[in-house]
Amino acid sequence: MNKDSFTVPITDIHTHIMPGVDDGAQNLGEALTALRVLIKEGVRRVVATPHFQASLLERSAHETDQFERFDRAYEKLATAASEDSLEITIERGCEFKLDAPTLDLSEPRLRLAGSRYALVEFASFRVPPFAENQLLAVHEAGWIPVLAHTERYAGVSSAWNRVEEWFRQGTLLQVNARSLFGSYGPEPQYVAQELLRLGWVSCLASDFHARGRPGLLSALNLIDRGGEEERRVLRTLMSENPERILNDETPTMVPPVYVEVPELDRRTPSRRWFR
Ligand SMILES: [Fe+2]
Repeated sequence: MNKDSFTVPITDIHTHIMPGVDDGAQNLGEALTALRVLIKEGVRRVVATPHFQASLLERSAHETDQFERFDRAYEKLATAASEDSLEITIERGCEFKLDAPTLDLSEPRLRLAGSRYALVEFASFRVPPFAENQLLAVHEAGWIPVLAHTERYAGVSSAWNRVEEWFRQGTLLQVNARSLFGSYGPEPQYVAQELLRLGWVSCLASDFHARGRPGLLSALNLIDRGGEEERRVLRTLMSENPERILNDETPTMVPPVYVEVPELDRRTPSRRWFR
């Protein structure tokens, strides 16, 4: 980093760092390593958002089991982080998959730090035919959906009018920092760039699965060109808006920003485009 490097205390609202509950950190050791990696990138407040499927709500025994597993994993992680004096606040949340007609988010553990905001994702990594209805159902129940990794759903680059409708509806659009580097392929990279250029993104997050890099610091360095405007955008995307969400406040509008993304070698096998 040069002397002009810009830093900001990052708040990351999307991670898979709860030990042994999903496809993220598999045990406490991996979870603590993940926390240290996030701290090194500048994260000071993080939400653990394990996957939770809406369809589980239709099977109450499974639902109870799942919450108990999350409770135990969270306690274990929070206790170990405090014993190791890690300087990071760990909040509760879930990444709620919209895979059933029942979209009951009244349980606070399903929402981001118990706020009215819920991190939601479409099923099967594609834009579903009734996406608008699903998001509207969340709004009508009194919650505000934060759409996880908006840029990653198949078909999203040919559905700009629909994305605009979600945005105008009041759905907050979250983008994964690593998408800007093409970690998930050329289409998500292009969509992430466009969403930022349109000023529709409310926040960047890592979606860190305790492997590789979270990409937050790299995204910060990519967007930061030393100009006041870019730094204001970064502050809003990575610090101010995630904080507002967790504090149950209304996020501020993010000014459009053009990000010059690294060119992808499109001959690279898709193997490296990981979850
Ligand atoms: Fe995720």
